[in-house]
Amino acid sequence: MRIKNICCIGAGYVGGPTMSVLALKNPNIRVTVVDINEERIAAWNDSELDNLPIYEPGLKDVVKEARGRNLFFTTEVEKAIDEAEMIFISVNTPTKTYGKGKGMAADLKYIELSARQIAKVAKSDKIVVEKSTLPVRTAQAIKDILDHTGNGVRFQILSNPEFLAEGTAIQDLMDPDRVLIGGEESDDGKEAIDALVDIYATWIPKEKILTTNVWSSELSKLVANAFLAQRVSSINAISELCEVTGADVREVSRAIGMDSRIGPKFLQSSVGFGGSCFQKDILNLVYIAKSYGLKEVADYWEQVILMNDHQKIRFAENIVSKLYNTVSGKKITFLGWAFKKDTNDTRESAAIYVADALLNEQAEITVYDPKVSEERIYADLDYLNTRSPEENRRLLKVALNPYQACKSTHAVAILTEWDEFKSYNWEKIYESAVKPAFVFDGRNILDSQSMREIGFQYQSIGISN
Ligand code: NAD
Ligand code: UGA
Repeated sequence: MRIKNICCIGAGYVGGPTMSVLALKNPNIRVTVVDINEERIAAWNDSELDNLPIYEPGLKDVVKEARGRNLFFTTEVEKAIDEAEMIFISVNTPTKTYGKGKGMAADLKYIELSARQIAKVAKSDKIVVEKSTLPVRTAQAIKDILDHTGNGVRFQILSNPEFLAEGTAIQDLMDPDRVLIGGEESDDGKEAIDALVDIYATWIPKEKILTTNVWSSELSKLVANAFLAQRVSSINAISELCEVTGADVREVSRAIGMDSRIGPKFLQSSVGFGGSCFQKDILNLVYIAKSYGLKEVADYWEQVILMNDHQKIRFAENIVSKLYNTVSGKKITFLGWAFKKDTNDTRESAAIYVADALLNEQAEITVYDPKVSEERIYADLDYLNTRSPEENRRLLKVALNPYQACKSTHAVAILTEWDEFKSYNWEKIYESAVKPAFVFDGRNILDSQSMREIGFQYQSIGISN
């Protein structure tokens, strides 16, 4: 089966970049990305490529080449569904904030709405591809909805989870470690799998394209994120031990990472992991385990989250204790608000929780982030509902220039590992700061010796000071 038209529902961090690369590599397929968010679609269509709704290195070039050729962004959801033989569902699946499973289970309302819309519109057979991260067995729910339309249209459901990381999305899509496709073990299922394999095979070596059944594919995505987050929590747990024993967490990471069975990646101790998915997906895994009565399994994975919460709070508490147990009325500068470098995404960023803890202590925070907007920062804080929006705006300011942000500051806290922070004129920052001047490096990106030579009281993570 040759696919000529693809529709992707959801033009977010996954749908946008994924479909852009897919369209770039398959000029003969017409790819239409749809979203109900008009503003987002307008930004994807903006002739000024700097205004794309998400920032990802390399994304502009891909969009420039494919957009208008065989890549389209539109709010005309029904038309795009009708025309496509293959439909990707790439909508958000946040943690539920209400009802049963509140705070743990994935909220599948956007998935169900998409499925219902496909069911309503479809007049010809379709392959529906789950691109969003979903609880194991969600495909069954989608199938139930699609199979009861009574209009004779036949659907095949595939699971094709996305493994890209933000900040390296284009690179990850161009050269992924693997692509995973789960499908039904029937002739029709195999035909659907082959159709999707053929699309990826235009640029990805066949041996990297794994095919499996739907349930294994759905669960593998949650497990991959759980394992990655677990590594960060594991090294962060060790960072606290390093601080009290005089060991250096960077040396420990290096020593264990050279064991080929452990490997060197994802052992960077930090102020805590953030991002829209690690916490959400582990909570989802915990919820699934609990719902099958697997208490020990649930407790085991929940600990990854508890350790991460501890790491964020520990960082904030350390700032307060080093600043002579009070930060009330003191200016503290945050360098970075994004959850990692090279992205403007702030979802679940550690910075939000560290700021909240310090604002509770009446600190006055000034934030500088090279890619995050002022509105986003205030929206993140307001969302916590800890204090009124007016109070948040009174206590926290956003600066457009890092030196301005650091002027007359009591302490600089590094929350994101943006490369530019390393090349700042730290002597100049020191001169304009209140003395003794502190730097709390939540990402261990600066050189401790040179910072101390300049005069800073420099604190890093996982190194006794
Ligand atoms: P996102 O919030 O950036 O984008 C989702 C988009 O879907 C939004 O623009 C929203 O308006 C749109 N949408 C919701 N319901 C819709 C509907 N009925 N019709 C049309 N559009 C609709 O989310 P995201 O970060 O792209 O994540 C999407 C999924 O991919 C999630 O399940 C997530 O877990 C998974 N995932 C994300 C990443 C990542 O790096 N962000 C990586 C791998 C997997
Ligand atoms: C992560 C996974 O890496 C992707 O494979 C997955 O597709 C994605 O989640 C998803 O499902 O959404 P992402 O969250 O974009 O990608 O970014 P990561 O590079 O994994 O970083 C996550 C967080 O962990 C960041 O806050 C980062 O700073 C932190 N981290 C990462 C560390 O603190 N130390 C490390 O060694 C690595």
